[in-house]
Amino acid sequence: MKKQFLSVASACGLVMALAACGESAEPAEEAATGAESAEADPIATRQGLLEGMGDAFMAIRGQMEGETDWAVVQANSETIAANAAEFINHFPEGTSMDSGADTEALAIIWEDPEGFSAAHDRLLGATVGLVEAAGTEDMATFQEAAGNLGGACKNCHDTYRKPQE
Ligand code: HEC
Repeated sequence: MKKQFLSVASACGLVMALAACGESAEPAEEAATGAESAEADPIATRQGLLEGMGDAFMAIRGQMEGETDWAVVQANSETIAANAAEFINHFPEGTSMDSGADTEALAIIWEDPEGFSAAHDRLLGATVGLVEAAGTEDMATFQEAAGNLGGACKNCHDTYRKPQE
């Protein structure tokens, strides 16, 4: 076990590089899937993170309507950025709607991983913009960033999440 880890580590470089390596190389992907399937409940984990992102976005919308407490806007923007970076790590194979599990994740996520990843990249870009805009404490700037973020959520949901009634 230890020996295997060391050989992976030396092939990919230091710890920081391991994650990147795990996402691209075939053999490492097997290792990553193994690690993910050891996770107790990946569906509940990702849904919790997405839910947190939705709640934070609602809190932000509330702040945009009335008197704005920028500290609240900034904290919720940080939550969105953190959850956005993490939820993507909890989509192991076999956890789509087709598996019969209680999830809205469509099978196309695993059929079109590049498209899903591109939709996630767009989200990450939008969260960087959101955090920056929150820092300016300028509402016009922030409104534009919030609009971009909403577009990034919808862009992914339109294709990869079960259509909402
Ligand atoms: C890269 C794709 C992607 C992006 C971008 C994305 N989502 Fe989602 N979202 C999903 C998928 C897939 C599900 C279904 C997950 C499941 O049920 O397992 C989902 C489900 C949700 C849910 C329901 C979670 C639950 O409790 O079942 C909420 C809330 C949500 N997303 C909010 C957001 C918000 C807010 C944004 C933007 C800030 C966003 N999502 C961006 C893919 C995405």
